Amino acid sequence: MTKTLRIAVIGAGRMGADHIQRLNTRIHGAEVAAVVDVDLARAQAAIEGIPGAVALADADEALSNGDVNAVLIATPGFLHEDILLKAIAKDIPILCEKPLTPDAETSWKIVEAEQKLGHKRIQVGFMRRFDAEYAALGKIIRNSELGELLMLHHQHRNPTTPAGFTNEMLINDSVVHEFDAIRYFTGEEITSVQVRLGKATRNAPAGQHDPQHVLIETESGVLADVEIYVNAKFGYEVATQASFEDGIVSIGGDQGPYTRSNGRWGGTITPGFEERFGAAYDVEIQSWVDAALRGEIGGPTAWDGYATAACCEAGVEAQKNGEKVAVKLNAKPDLYR
Ligand SMILES: NC(=O)c1ccc[n+]([C@@H]2O[C@H](COP(=O)([O-])OP(=O)(O)OC[C@H]3O[C@@H](n4cnc5c(N)ncnc54)[C@H](O)[C@@H]3O)[C@@H](O)[C@H]2O)c1
Repeated sequence: MTKTLRIAVIGAGRMGADHIQRLNTRIHGAEVAAVVDVDLARAQAAIEGIPGAVALADADEALSNGDVNAVLIATPGFLHEDILLKAIAKDIPILCEKPLTPDAETSWKIVEAEQKLGHKRIQVGFMRRFDAEYAALGKIIRNSELGELLMLHHQHRNPTTPAGFTNEMLINDSVVHEFDAIRYFTGEEITSVQVRLGKATRNAPAGQHDPQHVLIETESGVLADVEIYVNAKFGYEVATQASFEDGIVSIGGDQGPYTRSNGRWGGTITPGFEERFGAAYDVEIQSWVDAALRGEIGGPTAWDGYATAACCEAGVEAQKNGEKVAVKLNAKPDLYR
């Protein structure tokens, strides 16, 4: 049995570099064996100080390296499909950053390839499930501690967006996290998505309508809404308020320390996702490693990746027509039941 994962990290950009650091310093049972980036200098910089790691410019080279027995994919989403299919063919543990792939059709191909393999090898990087507050709210819902869950209100606010962040990316790159969170909280599939475009901020780049209000319905009729606001300036905030029959639960609001000084009160706001979800990423990757060493996966599946891709497709259509768009899903294969 494998005692240590020797991981090839594909893509050493913002997310990949962050994962390389955590694998090298905080995660047990795993080592970085190779870092691949088309920008070889970036891969070389990322392996600095990591004994035994090699820098490569080609993912195929890493996958055929006998020293590699697992892969973490952190390239842009449109490149995931090709690497996923090759890694599935090698039957090695895979952590794929979200999205699984950018659309439902290619995500379904991945689900089919994993089914042929006959066991789960892919964990998708929806890290919010590993955030302590998300887990606590999930437990309250599953145990019916406050009766039935009725509604979920989400706020997803970023200070600004990188150049080239399109209108569709508000759904595909941002609200995709809420699609997964709503499925995780309710344990149900999402049945429809509607997007309302109201008054927009002058701070959005051309072609991007910001903020947007996304209205979501699940199988049992739980209603959820998301304020996605990606040029909110003040900082990064991901918060949820859940309405139950017997109470209200809020998570993700401002966190301590709460200070009173010089006639003012308050605290600091997290500037980005690394700070807000840093601990969750650690738990996520450790869960993947621990499960992979047992021959399992430790988090969201390829089915979750496929289902959220289908929600995103409905969301992008809803952005364009303003209508309530049904989410179309194939039947769930037994492997994911
Ligand atoms: N879970 C989260 O909260 C979260 C947050 C940010 C990004 N992401 C996801 O992580 C992934 C990477 O995003 P990012 O922000 O790090 O992007 P990035 O652009 O910062 O990094 C991508 C890296 O991939 C490299 N690359 C491009 N083509 C390649 C190829 N063919 N082979 C090898 N390397 C290649 C680029 O040179 C770059 O270094 C995306 O899927 C994104 O959606 C997830």
